[in-house]
Amino acid sequence: MTPQEPTFMIGSVPIHGDLILAPMDGLTDQPFRDLCRRLGSAMVVTEFINALDVIEENPRYPKRTRFKDEQRPLALQILGNDPQRMLTAAIQLVKEVQPDILDVNLGCQSKNVTARGAGAALLRTPAKIGQIFALLTREFSIPVTGKIRLGWDEESLTYLEVAKTIQDNGGALVAVHGRTRKQAYRGQARWEPIREVKQALQIPVIGNGDVRTTADIARIKAETGCDAVMIGRAAVANPWIFSRRDRGQVDPQAAEQTIFAHFDAMLAFYGEPGVTTFRKYLKAYLAPYAIPRERLLALLKMKDPASVRAEIARIFSEL
Ligand SMILES: Cc1cc2nc3c(=O)[nH]c(=O)nc-3n(C[C@H](O)[C@H](O)[C@H](O)COP(=O)(O)O)c2cc1C
Repeated sequence: MTPQEPTFMIGSVPIHGDLILAPMDGLTDQPFRDLCRRLGSAMVVTEFINALDVIEENPRYPKRTRFKDEQRPLALQILGNDPQRMLTAAIQLVKEVQPDILDVNLGCQSKNVTARGAGAALLRTPAKIGQIFALLTREFSIPVTGKIRLGWDEESLTYLEVAKTIQDNGGALVAVHGRTRKQAYRGQARWEPIREVKQALQIPVIGNGDVRTTADIARIKAETGCDAVMIGRAAVANPWIFSRRDRGQVDPQAAEQTIFAHFDAMLAFYGEPGVTTFRKYLKAYLAPYAIPRERLLALLKMKDPASVRAEIARIFSEL
């Protein structure tokens, strides 16, 4: 394979690489997507954008869609319950944001999302998913993809029907998180259904759920035959996983450099409030080191960027 040859295609979009940062509300913002893309994520996906927010012009949504050109290919993820409204919102979003791919959220498990029939609730009504994909794929020349779970619960494992419906209505890829809505994030993700989906579809399939190490990457690929692997929570503690490095393989010097670059990017994107938003990443970055609890808590309470910076430098100088 020449370096230019894509690993796989999402419709007309070539994807170089098989590891992809999973979309995570409140985590995969512009700075974190940027970092993971640089470290090797083959593309990025925005946090979900609620179709209602777009239609009602809620001021909170535009920040969630911002990205740098270097992040491309970028998939913009839309969430909604009403096919026509999702189309209306998507038309506006695609025009404004110019993503490479449009992704439909069919997996969000939070109660306020599913209570109104959006996210994973749609897995109970595959026909509606068919309508959504028919409308979107007819409207756009960019590929439309879907991110699904296995179903609502054990009595409603609709993943195969949903995946085929997406393909039959013009969808260009299906990403499968190997849990039901009822499981939320509990228990162990099942990968066998991902293999079933891969065998049943002609379009590419992404495997997702509980991939934490480079060994897990090899295992999910071997067990499912998936075209690519999405990594979510483990990437927060170890974004280097996109360079196929386990956390133990990242030396403190490289970790410190990345932490500072991420912190600077957060401050540039959010201004001073970036200090607070950075805490969840900082806590995960520092987890491998034996930092006394009191000292860590004190660091995670600091508000002044210069003090945070100085304390991180001190911690690394003492390792
Ligand atoms: C905090 C959090 C937020 C999430 N937000 C989204 C989202 O906006 N869109 C989406 O499709 N999935 C979302 N997910 C699901 C992840 O993309 C992924 O499917 C799930 O975390 C399983 O993968 P993992 O075990 O690698 O974390 C979210 C997950 C978490 C933990």
